[in-house]
Amino acid sequence: MHDDRPILFFDSGVGGLSIVGPTRALLPTARFVYAADSAGFPYGTRSEAEIAARVPVLLGRLAERYRPRLIVIACNTASTIALPAIRAALDLPVVGTVPAIKPAAGLSVTRTIGVLGTEATVRQAYVDDLTARFAADCTVLRHGSAELVALAEAHLRGLPTPPDRFAAVLGGLFDQPGGDRIDVIVNACTHFPLVADHLARAAPHPVRFVDGGPGIARRIAWLTRDSVWPDRGQRSGNDDVAVFTRLGDPELALAPALAARGFGRLESL
Ligand code: DGL
Repeated sequence: MHDDRPILFFDSGVGGLSIVGPTRALLPTARFVYAADSAGFPYGTRSEAEIAARVPVLLGRLAERYRPRLIVIACNTASTIALPAIRAALDLPVVGTVPAIKPAAGLSVTRTIGVLGTEATVRQAYVDDLTARFAADCTVLRHGSAELVALAEAHLRGLPTPPDRFAAVLGGLFDQPGGDRIDVIVNACTHFPLVADHLARAAPHPVRFVDGGPGIARRIAWLTRDSVWPDRGQRSGNDDVAVFTRLGDPELALAPALAARGFGRLESL
């Protein structure tokens, strides 16, 4: 007997789609729900207290409506701030997203790593911990950018995203003392892999970009390894639901990008 309960991905905006992509590649017939807190977006400029108060409550409502088998906090900001509170509030497995500092340290030859996240993520003690555990012999430079979150949102809406704006964001890393030695950048916000090509083109010298997406997808596949998914052949291929806490014109403008990723139905929470 198959079990049709979905995997629910949660982010403030479209960033979680960078986790959906590698997960779909591993679980092509799984049913997904994509939830975006558009009414609370952006998270990166909010306080820890606001995020910790908001996210567990929203996830409780989403879990009640969609009855997921697993929840993925596809957002570094919410994960680094509120993962323990979210896990305590829900009676479900929860997978979080943390900055990929460990794989970056494995790749860096110059032992100089850039961490690009939201302002809220890069100031977390969680990032200090990851650095001490996995990159103690590296110089780890951090930069928080709300601008890059906005650029990723614009890109998915098909709006213009001028190259000089990406270069200016990267300047926040490369212009720091020692920044010219950076050879690996951690995309520590789920929005940023969506514009990885733009970032690579704007970098002053070739760098590698890493993010947690592929590792999180493997973790999701492992946690759901006993699931028998329905035959996707009986479904239209883009009939998964994307749900927004506010559904207005800015969210409706995302419909083509969402449909291209399997989310052909838009709902409001
Ligand atoms: N995508 C989110 C993250 O991974 C947050 C973006 C925002 O709302 O500022 O941190």
